[in-house]
Parts: sequence; C-alpha cells; structure tokens
Amino acid sequence: MSDSGDFRAVVEAARTCRRFEEDKPLSMADLEWLVECARLAPSARNAQTLRFTLVGPGQTCNELFSLTRWAGALKDWGGPHPGERPTAFVVILMPEDAGELVRFDVGIAAQTIHLAANSKGWGCCMIQSFDHVAVPKLLQIPSGMKPALVLGLGVAKEIRKVAPMPADGSFAYWRDEQGVHYVPKRGIAELIAARF
Ligand SMILES: Cc1cc2nc3c(=O)[nH]c(=O)nc-3n(C[C@H](O)[C@H](O)[C@H](O)COP(=O)(O)O)c2cc1C
Repeated sequence: MSDSGDFRAVVEAARTCRRFEEDKPLSMADLEWLVECARLAPSARNAQTLRFTLVGPGQTCNELFSLTRWAGALKDWGGPHPGERPTAFVVILMPEDAGELVRFDVGIAAQTIHLAANSKGWGCCMIQSFDHVAVPKLLQIPSGMKPALVLGLGVAKEIRKVAPMPADGSFAYWRDEQGVHYVPKRGIAELIAARF
C-alpha cells in the first residue's frame, strides 16, 4: 500500500483479492466501518435506497461462501481453499423495483468499500456470480429487496499486480508459477475516445 499520497498508486494497489488470511478474521466493527464509508458515497437523487447485510466470521459466512463463484478465468482453480477463504461478506441490497440509476449507486458503494478495505490492508472481491435464489433465503433479505452484489472480504494474502494488455488483446487475468495474480489493463491511449 502506497503512503505517498498518490491516489493513482492507491487505486493500482487495490486489485481484486481472492485469497485471505483466514486465521485473521475481520470483526463486525470492521464491517460497520466499511459501511460507514459507503454511507458517505454519492447516490443518485441522494435517495440512498441501498441497504447492507453484514456477515462476520462463522457458519453463515461459510454457507454464503459456498453460494459464490470465484475467478471464472482461472480454469484450474475452483476458488479459495480452506485456510484462505474470506472471513466476512458485505452484501449490497437494492430494491427489487429499482430504476436503472440505482445500479450506479451499487457500483459506487462497492468501489468505496473496496478502496476502504484496501486502505486497511484488507482484500475485497466483488461477486456477481452467486446463487440469486439461495442467498436471499440464507440472509433473510427483507421483502422488496434483492442482493445486487456480494463483497467477499478478509485480510489480503495474495500478491496482485497490474500488467500491460497482452498483444493478443486477451483481458483474462492470470497467475504465474509463484501464485502472483496479474490483471491486464488497457493503456490510456486506448481508453480516451476523443479530445476536443
Ligand atoms: C460487477 C462485478 C462483478 C464481479 N463478479 C465477480 C465474480 O462473480 N467472481 C469473481 O471472482 N470476481 C468477480 N469480479 C471481479 C473481477 O473479475 C475483477 O474486477 C477483474 O478481474 C479485474 O480485476 P481487478 O479488480 O483487480 O482490476 C467482479 C467485478 C465486478 C466489477
């Protein structure tokens, strides 16, 4: 984690994390601090319709983990092994009848929590690939709400690095023999659509 005050370096270091120090669990107070950060984030119309279900270490955390899918691009890895699993989750809830603007709120809240977690040396993985039928039942999601995004959290264990895009343009992430996780990012020249 950079302490240079360079926000770009902070964002570069905040890669998705999928392996955690399972013997150093986060606490409910840690999760509440993350939501305190999200509470202050922008919200369309300032309506603040999102809600957050907190899952600390324990049986519900284990059950929720089993309903999530990790790293689809790593075909020979089925997700974090015992001992390196997330120790907590924050589940972002949105109204079932929400308009499309609320999806922006979900993304903003997720990235706020992601950066907040990284600022503490914790890792975060946003997960959209989860059992959308079983998770609401497990977490007794209030009627009228649905889980929009699951955030897996814990003390970060894996090394993650940004890499240049390969020449073939593949955007899949990969790991080297040492288990270092690489995430290719497009160059800025490719991203800027126009300058006026
Ligand atoms: C909306 C969204 C949904 C995601 N869903 C999953 C998921 O279901 N499982 C997973 O392992 N990673 C998931 N990710 C993490 C992405 O795979 C990750 O952001 C991407 O590989 C780029 O890595 P980076 O976050 O380190 O830049 C998701 C990310 C976003 C933004």
